[in-house]
Amino acid sequence: MHTIAAAALLATAHALQLPWKPAAVAAPPSAPAAIAADDHRRAVIGGHNWLTHAPPSYFARDKLTVKGPRANTDVGAPVDATRPLVKLGDVAVGSWSCSEGGWLSPAPRTSTEWFIMLEGEGSVDEEDGTRHRFAAGDVVVLPRGWSGRWDVQKDLHKVWAVHTHADDGRSTSPVIATPSQMSDGDIYKAGDTAVRVWTRQPGPVEVRDKATTESIYVLSGEMFVTNQDGSAVRCVAGDTVALPRGWTGRYDVASAVKAVSVVVGKETTSAAAPAPSHAGGKRRPIVGGNWKCNPATASSLDELCRNFDGVAPYLDKCDVYVCPSNLHVALVKDNFTPGIHVAPQNCNFKGCGAYTGEMSVDQIQDLGLGWVLIGHSERRGEFGLPTPAESNQLMATKLQYILDQGLNCVFCIGEPLSIRQKGIQAVLAECADQLTDIVPILRQLSDKSRVVIAYEPVWAIGTGEAATPEQAQETHKGIRDWIAANVDRATADAIRIQYGGSANAGNAPELSSFPDIDGFLVGGASLKPEIADIVKAIAEAKV
Ligand code: PGA
Repeated sequence: MHTIAAAALLATAHALQLPWKPAAVAAPPSAPAAIAADDHRRAVIGGHNWLTHAPPSYFARDKLTVKGPRANTDVGAPVDATRPLVKLGDVAVGSWSCSEGGWLSPAPRTSTEWFIMLEGEGSVDEEDGTRHRFAAGDVVVLPRGWSGRWDVQKDLHKVWAVHTHADDGRSTSPVIATPSQMSDGDIYKAGDTAVRVWTRQPGPVEVRDKATTESIYVLSGEMFVTNQDGSAVRCVAGDTVALPRGWTGRYDVASAVKAVSVVVGKETTSAAAPAPSHAGGKRRPIVGGNWKCNPATASSLDELCRNFDGVAPYLDKCDVYVCPSNLHVALVKDNFTPGIHVAPQNCNFKGCGAYTGEMSVDQIQDLGLGWVLIGHSERRGEFGLPTPAESNQLMATKLQYILDQGLNCVFCIGEPLSIRQKGIQAVLAECADQLTDIVPILRQLSDKSRVVIAYEPVWAIGTGEAATPEQAQETHKGIRDWIAANVDRATADAIRIQYGGSANAGNAPELSSFPDIDGFLVGGASLKPEIADIVKAIAEAKV
């Protein structure tokens, strides 16, 4: 059998409630000789042109080889254990565990390492003492050239992939990301190494002569990956899969798969990694709820969080975030349906220290949050209070800091009524003015989904008088055209622009039908159950 009709077999397997059995499991001729007896759970053994698959049991702690106490420790007496999975040219994949302790790691790394934390807590320090903490579920990238120290605070266990490559002067700072709080896109990209989160919807995908080597860790969903000879494996949460450069085969996604992967090599359209969410002109919609300085009592928070439960069915099609008031962020951050992001309404642009009244990006990151909102008109001098307005230049400084720290940003802009009354050209000139300082930042940004522009006409905010869909579309298109002319076409096509200002369940469906409206930033209506209808409207409109 040359190609398995995996979807049909899957349907049969499900109907009979049978565990999946690949129809033909053949060890390829290039299978390495040293396959241990207990590897029988690896359905297909990898090598050149073949996929390698490991279920979580392959990396179970009792399967790792204990290397004994580390010789170089300066704190505790950690013992580490490893198990390799596969080596494909300059890419290798395996697992590592280590008990509590710490040690210096002074030699600059010769490879870039990506790992997903299965259990435990740890940290790496840079030479200057900057500490990067990570815990179960986090994805960590330690770039080539990193040196510093390791500390294991709680017995850790991880699945890793390394790419050994030449020094190309890239940043050596670690990057930490929490995939459950990230939308699809790159966590890290430098040279020929990209670490990314992707979601693939149900359906088949043929891959011919894969241009990259890719190692995949499946976070959720179910798919079947089939070699050219028809041998197939079922991949579900916790599985590790490695696909070598040159691989030909197919994926059959049974239920939406979310994964973290490291892709090594020059990508072409035949690469198996799904294209970013904006490929082919399609941008993934995004809706945010801005609670501003509400509610008055912490006891009302649970009810407000529950209003968002209704968005769950749309989270595979639409990003959703909530901006609670600063005092409430930590109280609610674990009280939403998983997949909903919590984004503080502001941040500072330096680390921690003597900044009374501020919240640092570092603190936001430490809470495990992936997004932050800045530049709301109410902070740009439209409070109606005698507080100093935050400038465009300050916004650019904040944005750069946010992105450098690995967070994503909702960047608000919009004109007051006096400018709207002068007409669309005056409106676009004002928007351009608010965007000019971030042009170099947008130009350099490799994953354009990390910055979302929220266009919010000040006169529409909280007034019940939303912009008409035509007005909103005209302005969004004008902003996109300005970005095409002043940043570049790719950024203009990929960047998401939300509309804000009295958006509600009534006007969302029509606004959603316009091509340059990619979502909403919702104030008042985000305090009500109708937020779910707003998300539904855009998720369904942009399918
Ligand atoms: P509104 O607020 O939906 O209540 O008009 C929007 C915002 O300020 O973000």
